[in-house]
Amino acid sequence: MADFVPARAWLRAVVTLCAAGGLSVRLVAAPLDPTGLEQRVESLLGQLSQQEKIQLMAGGSTFGTAAIARVGVPALSFADGPNGVRSNNDEVATVFPTGVGLAATWNPEVARAAGEAMGREAHALGVHVLLGPNVNIQRTPLAGRNFESYSEDPFLAGKMGVGFVQGVQSQGVGTSPKHFVANEQELERLRSSSNMDERTLREIYLAPFEMIVKEAKPWTIMASYNRLNGTYMTENAPLLRGVLKGEWGFDGVLMSDWGAVHTTAPAANGGTDLEMPGPGRYFGGALVESARNWQVEQPVIDEAARRMLRLVARTGALDNPPLPPARRDAGTARSREAALAAAREAITLLKNEHDVLPLERGRVKTLAVIGPNADVPLMQGGGSASVVPARLGTPLASLRALAGNAMSVRYAQGVDNDLVPPPADYRMLSADAARAKPGLAFSYYAGDKIGGRADHSGIETYFEKTMFASQLTQMAGRWEGWFWPTRDGEHEFRLATRGDSTLWIDGKAVIGKDVGTALPAESDFQAAGKVAKVVLRQGKGYRLRIDYISLPVAFHQMHFGIRLPAPDIAEAVRVAREADAAVVFVGVSRTSESEGRDRTTLALVGRQNELVRAVLAANPRTVIVLNNGAPLDLPWIDTAPAVLEAWLPGQEGVDAVAQVLLGDTNPSGKLPFSFPRRLEDNPTHLYYSAGRDANYGEGVFVGYRYYDKKQVAPLFAFGHGLSYTRFEYSNLRVPAAGAGPLEVSVEVKNVGTREGAEVAQLYVGDEATVNVVRPVKELKGFSKVRLAPGQSQTLRFVLTPRDLAYFDVHVNDWVATPGLHRVFIGSSSADIRLQQAVRWTAQADPRLPREGRAAFED
Ligand code: BGC
Repeated sequence: MADFVPARAWLRAVVTLCAAGGLSVRLVAAPLDPTGLEQRVESLLGQLSQQEKIQLMAGGSTFGTAAIARVGVPALSFADGPNGVRSNNDEVATVFPTGVGLAATWNPEVARAAGEAMGREAHALGVHVLLGPNVNIQRTPLAGRNFESYSEDPFLAGKMGVGFVQGVQSQGVGTSPKHFVANEQELERLRSSSNMDERTLREIYLAPFEMIVKEAKPWTIMASYNRLNGTYMTENAPLLRGVLKGEWGFDGVLMSDWGAVHTTAPAANGGTDLEMPGPGRYFGGALVESARNWQVEQPVIDEAARRMLRLVARTGALDNPPLPPARRDAGTARSREAALAAAREAITLLKNEHDVLPLERGRVKTLAVIGPNADVPLMQGGGSASVVPARLGTPLASLRALAGNAMSVRYAQGVDNDLVPPPADYRMLSADAARAKPGLAFSYYAGDKIGGRADHSGIETYFEKTMFASQLTQMAGRWEGWFWPTRDGEHEFRLATRGDSTLWIDGKAVIGKDVGTALPAESDFQAAGKVAKVVLRQGKGYRLRIDYISLPVAFHQMHFGIRLPAPDIAEAVRVAREADAAVVFVGVSRTSESEGRDRTTLALVGRQNELVRAVLAANPRTVIVLNNGAPLDLPWIDTAPAVLEAWLPGQEGVDAVAQVLLGDTNPSGKLPFSFPRRLEDNPTHLYYSAGRDANYGEGVFVGYRYYDKKQVAPLFAFGHGLSYTRFEYSNLRVPAAGAGPLEVSVEVKNVGTREGAEVAQLYVGDEATVNVVRPVKELKGFSKVRLAPGQSQTLRFVLTPRDLAYFDVHVNDWVATPGLHRVFIGSSSADIRLQQAVRWTAQADPRLPREGRAAFED
């Protein structure tokens, strides 16, 4: 079935409820010149009363700031997030590859283009600040938000973040790199203390933020929930005031994560400018009181208000009128192209023996498409980064479309992989008895009653509805139509809502107040739900109705899921055996990788390993496609000839993966993290626990820094990714010695038969330092180059003293030790092609004060 565009309006009817949330938008963003902007800010600040200044420091609504109408300061509107604009009113937007996929492109220009597109959509949807990128480090493979963040490596994360921030902000929309800092797990995420030494903090966890602040100047930064060495980040003056605003010169707004402020004076004095969400709990009346008692001094209030006004001025919202509704459009063809381009560069070929891939049309006449992720629109992870997609495609549909008449494509699901019943598939539902309209009819009402004239109605196709209001509100909704089972047997239905909800099947209530089995919330992000199992028959239409009457809440959720009867592995094996080649889509599901919950194992959920093994045995020409944001256990890896990492690739990823499989796109992604053989090999395994402390005991030895040093080979190394062509490296030039920026060059040649792109990676190793233990090598440069067969190109890099340095805690500064350092050029961190030593001759004397030392600055 063709792709479907989901209905745009859940609750457009109750948009009125959140009118106070400030949906102001402007026709064009007109950045002011810095002087004009600062003058305007000072003039406005001078007109504000103390009360008004403090009003600006607390949110005005769940996703908006407070307006000071008296002086013409409008409310700003914020929206998540890192892989597309998550509208607060459930409007559709383009879903891009999630952070880890974007990073797998190893191409900051792709991040910039994606950022530009998201900035355009944010603008169109009336959003002034996009809450991303997530540049926390992928420390443990279990972390629930790894899919959202970029990398285990701070340099790669920083460079991708710079591209993203510059892209979004070029459209007159702000960004909020998050979560500052050391927010690397979901376990006890709201209060655990990330404990580490200063060197680890500087070299690994602060480094991406530092690069982004210095190179891309984000308009805001989001302080994380966690504590750092015991102090809540929203109160951490040494980091917020000292490092971020002082040392790095950050001049934007430091906003809290949602609910991360716990105190009044310590948070304001610590450097938090804005408490979110609104209305303020600690920064409202309590802050007025603290200021009156001199617990918070006037310059602190003035500075925060100034930063808030600067943000409003930067967005252009001081001048521009709201956009007319017709312009509130997202999901355009231009955005789709950017999402497709990103997905094509993200897909990473992990293994390809005997040239199983690509599945060329001439060679493969029948193709078996198998697996739980083959015919579902799996594109993103769960939680605040989850966007209402502008398109719901599936790999199966894309493969069929691309293969055309050249291949016969046969499908069998084999097994399922959902922890709970997944979002209902609109293709199995219809609003009418004749099945002319896929989806369910919806009616939404403001208030707590269903009936009478609906405030909004239409056809719904996306059954994970989330909507934010500016205050506690009630709403009611009804979905109704028919369900058409595709298999006989037991179906499991699920409703998760914030309020009362009932599901009727053929007039009988199966989930409701008194029926159904309660299911705990999957994460602190999800409403708790109820499930019920019902035996249904294929070929018959069942009448469905769902009613929802909310509690008074600011955050509405209406999720409806259906788990189909267990599919049949034997059928999948049969389909695979009869085909020339098979592709098996396995990995995480739409319900297994999410904010608010870490995984407990890297194992594939359910019987997926069994399915993979059975298909591999049935057809030697089998390709395994993975969907995931973090490492998985692949116990069958030695028998699988080809493995393609497709990530959570955004809404256009389905086309990208089809193109790569059939050879229309040559893959060029590289792993942004190390893929371990076993969870136990990961360096954090000794420290990860559910206690109040998240001890970062591995220090700077995160990811490949550890695998290199301990000589533990991961399954696939950081930076690994194959191509359908081959590249050769030659002519590495590194100066024999130097005391300033070092120029390095290397030649890369495409020696295969197809056009392709290679990411040349530059690592640096310190052989001079003896007083601290340094990693064998660290990434300090990379360059992606596209080459025709036979073509070569010389790539140039410049290494700064900072690239050779470590953070010396004794002098509280970066130190590049004189002596030998080594430059490595590789196609991955484990596939080093060329290397050469350089003697660093600048004399560093750590006993001198900071100003007295040469060549430590970047
Ligand atoms: C998340 C943030 C997000 C915020 C607003 C928090 O729970 O940690 O990343 O931006 O919610 O949705």
